[in-house]
Amino acid sequence: MDAREAPVPRPGGLNRGKAALRERLLAARRQLTPAERAGAGRVIRDAILSLPETQMAGTVAAYYSVGAEPETRGLLFALWKRGSYVLLPILLPDGDLDWASYEGPDSLRPGPRGLTEPAEPPRGAGAISSADLVLVPALAVDHSGMRLGRGGGSYDRALARVGTPVPTVALVYDSEFVPHVPSGQHDQRVRMVARPSAGIMRLPRE
Ligand SMILES: Nc1ncnc2c1ncn2[C@@H]1O[C@H](COP(=O)(O)OP(=O)(O)O)[C@@H](O)[C@H]1O
Ligand SMILES: [Mg+2]
Repeated sequence: MDAREAPVPRPGGLNRGKAALRERLLAARRQLTPAERAGAGRVIRDAILSLPETQMAGTVAAYYSVGAEPETRGLLFALWKRGSYVLLPILLPDGDLDWASYEGPDSLRPGPRGLTEPAEPPRGAGAISSADLVLVPALAVDHSGMRLGRGGGSYDRALARVGTPVPTVALVYDSEFVPHVPSGQHDQRVRMVARPSAGIMRLPRE
């Protein structure tokens, strides 16, 4: 191919590609019933709880599910009950994430944009660096672990603070594990993907 015909990657094109994929994935999630969402959450909860990395983890950074995400409430409760120190995100005005501890279902309060946040004192955006296991939401994950979020880039910032050996797991529905997610320089990969039917899969490092 003549070099002049080679496609030149443009951020506008990347953002449009991501936006189109998000729209399609969110539309599919809207079709899910509360029972399907809860069922997915239960299966993913059990898969994560039986992971050796979870059993070894003193501190787990996780999140409280919102909208049609696979339910994480039961997982948070189970992690806390068995003695893990659980950190949950607090969305900051600039889209970055602060972190505070989960101390059971009564330690939560409503946050911005329909989110539920920990009411405990914030520990700083760097607190995620102390986690032994990091669980993150995603709209899609590709076969190399590249992750698509809701468009705020919050987890690109948070995951950049997580050390290379720390296991990071994205929780998605089966059809959201896709061959390719469009990505830019700032996008961060995860090391594992958790799905209701297939359980947890370790993804190859590039
Ligand atoms: N490390 C970073 N520092 C500052 N802003 C960032 C960073 N990573 C991502 N962002 C911001 O987040 C925006 C959305 O990122 P994007 O990857 O499209 O969203 P998501 O990861 O939620 O799908 C980016 O255009 C950028 O403005
Ligand atoms: Mg991103």
